[in-house]
Amino acid sequence: TTLLDNAAKAAGKKYLGTATDNGELTDTAYTAILDEKGMFGQITPANSMKWENTEPEQGVWTWTDADQIANLAKSNGQLLRGHNCVWYNQLPSWVTSGTWTTSTLTSVVQNHTGELVGRYKGQVWDVVNEPFNDDGTYREDVFYNTLGESYIPIALTAARAADPNAKLYINEYNIEYQGSKATAMINLVKSLQSQGVPIDGIGLQSHFIVGEVPSTLQATMESFTALGVEIAITELDIRMTLPETAALLEQQKTDYDTVISACRAVSGCIGVTVWDFTDKYSWVPSTFSGQGAATPYDSNLVKKPAYDGIIAGF
Ligand code: XIL
Repeated sequence: TTLLDNAAKAAGKKYLGTATDNGELTDTAYTAILDEKGMFGQITPANSMKWENTEPEQGVWTWTDADQIANLAKSNGQLLRGHNCVWYNQLPSWVTSGTWTTSTLTSVVQNHTGELVGRYKGQVWDVVNEPFNDDGTYREDVFYNTLGESYIPIALTAARAADPNAKLYINEYNIEYQGSKATAMINLVKSLQSQGVPIDGIGLQSHFIVGEVPSTLQATMESFTALGVEIAITELDIRMTLPETAALLEQQKTDYDTVISACRAVSGCIGVTVWDFTDKYSWVPSTFSGQGAATPYDSNLVKKPAYDGIIAGF
């Protein structure tokens, strides 16, 4: 069978990658697939680079898990996607319940972003994750409430200073179809560009539902690349209401093919990352009640029709 990253590269893309997590790396049946040359050309740590895990107390850095994933990528010859610097979720309480001024929180954002991006150089980074509400307004998290939208240029500028060669992304979900949220992202990127703030890419998370992949996906991608930035599909999974059936698995194969084909067709779409490759470790069942079976391998690490859908798409 054709391996996933090999298929992506044959189609002129940089990689087909996967999220992974530290707790999964003792599962040797899992790592045999993760480490196989030609299968995944890129990995994203699902949790270990998040703020609560890297700076759980102010100025106290815990790198063991993040380093484990970075070292794994290096020894496997895989690209690494840093995920992430600034996000409203999975924050330590010292950030969420701190008493901040504009000046003190600016330093905290600069420092946290700079430490991460400076530690893992030459990588792609989700510098800002999920800044918008679904209606396209800014999410009112601790960063926005204290700094307004300026927290985004503050983080991007700090990332660029820490590593001039890093590719800096804003990553978001529900921007894969045209609407207020995608428009908000376009307006944000235009505004950053007009201010001379570094921005290299837009990540489309792409947590989809079987049978509901947006028909405007490719057109939306093109509206992003028209801004002069690159894009990537960063967290692809396609979930279904359980139990899985043969018909749902066939539709899921078609849906994976559709998403991959859209990336293939857009030259500025550099690659695709699945949000873990097996139903055994997918975040979906614990997050979306009654749903699951969202990835290309089943919970016994057997390839599903979705795997062939990815190959077909490239
Ligand atoms: C998820 C992880 O996969 C889970 O293990 C964790 O419990 C919650 O976060 N969007 C993102 C990712 O940007 O960081 C999220 O990852 C999934 C949604």
